Amino acid sequence: MVRIYENISLRPYNSFGIEATADRLIEWDSAQSLADFVSSERALFEGQNGRWEVLGAGCNTLFSGDFGGTLLHSVAKGIEVVEQDEQQVLIRAAAGELWDDVVAWSVERGLWGMENLSAIPSSVGASAVQNIGAYGAEAKDCIAWVECLDLQTIEQIRIPAAECAFGYRESIFKGALKGRVIITAVVYRLQTCGTPRLDYGSLRPEVEALGEATPANIRKAVVAIRDSKLPNPEVTGNAGSFFKNPVLPRAQVEQLKEQYPTMPVYEVAGNPDVLKIATGWMIDTLGWKGKGMGRAGVHDKQALVLVNRGGATGPEVVALAEEICRQVKEKFGVSISPEVNII
Ligand code: EPU
Repeated sequence: MVRIYENISLRPYNSFGIEATADRLIEWDSAQSLADFVSSERALFEGQNGRWEVLGAGCNTLFSGDFGGTLLHSVAKGIEVVEQDEQQVLIRAAAGELWDDVVAWSVERGLWGMENLSAIPSSVGASAVQNIGAYGAEAKDCIAWVECLDLQTIEQIRIPAAECAFGYRESIFKGALKGRVIITAVVYRLQTCGTPRLDYGSLRPEVEALGEATPANIRKAVVAIRDSKLPNPEVTGNAGSFFKNPVLPRAQVEQLKEQYPTMPVYEVAGNPDVLKIATGWMIDTLGWKGKGMGRAGVHDKQALVLVNRGGATGPEVVALAEEICRQVKEKFGVSISPEVNII
C-alpha cells in the first residue's frame, strides 16, 4: 500500500525537529507497492516532474527549507531469517525497519555482528546508504547484500556488499546509484560465535564492569556511553554527528600533531598514507561546546553534534555549521564537510 500526503509538515519526519513542509510525501510499505508507484509515475523518476528524494528515518537529514518535490519514505517492516547454519545466520530486514530494532532483535538471539552499532538512530535503508559506524564497527562489516528496486527496469536487484563501494560514511548509493535505485531491504550476515570488538575509547572497561563480553553486555555498554554523550532526539533535536572526521595525508596530520599534541588521530584500516582526525576535538578546542548562534547550538557534551535549542530553522542550523567550518579552516587549515544530508 502507498499513502500520499500533500503539503505535509516534516517536523515528525526529522530528528532535528525542524519545521518545514514537503509538497508531497509518499509512504510505501512493501517492495511491490513501491514498484507499483514507480510504474505509475514514470515521468517523476525520469526527472521530468520535479525533484524527488528518499527520506529514511530522518535522523541524518537537515531540511534547509520547505521541500518543493516528492519525498519517498519507507514504512516497510519485517525481519526474517533467510538462511542459517551452525556458524552464521543471514537475516533480511525491510528498509523501513528502525536500525536499532534490528540490533535489539539480533542481540536478543545472542547473535554477533551488530552489537557495537547499538542505539544509532537510523533506518535499515540508511544503514547501507550511509554505512553507519560507531565504536570500531561499521554496517558494511555485517551487510551481505542490499536489495533494491531498479528505477529504470522496475525490477528487484540484489547488490552484493563487495559491489557497494562502502567507505567511511560512503557507499555506491550516495554515488553512482543515487537516483537510480531505491533500497527495499538489507540482508545482514551475523555470527553465532563472535569476537568482541572492544578497542574503541572507553568501551572495554564499560563492558568489563558488566561482566562477560557478550553481545548483550556490549550493547548495554554502548547504549550507556551514547546516552552519556549524545542528546536524545526526542528531547533535543539533533542528527548525531553533524560533520565527518576528515581523512588527510599522513604528513599533514603529523604537522598538525606537532602543533597540537593532544589532537586525537586514528589510523585508517588498509591505507597507511592517510590518518583520520577528530572534528569534535577541533570544534571543542575552538570553544564551541554548549554555545551556539540563535536557536541552533553545539551540544555541551560532544562538539560534533549540532542541536536545535528550540524552534531552530534549517537556515539557522546551516548558518551555525558554516561559521564552524570557517573557524576550523582558519585555525587548523582543515576543510570539514557535513555528514548530515542537507536538502
Ligand atoms: N572529542 C573532544 N571533544 C568533543 C568531542 C570529541 O575532545 O567535544 C574527542 C574525544 O575525546 C575523542 C575524539 O575527539 O578523543 C573522538 O570523539 P568520539 O569518540 O566521541 O567520536 P567522534 O569521532 O566524535 C565518531 C562518529 C560517531 C560515533 C563515535 C564513536 C563520525 C562522524 N562520528 O564520532 O558517530 O558514535 O565516533 O564511534 O564518524 C554519527 O555518525 O552520527 C555518530 C554519532
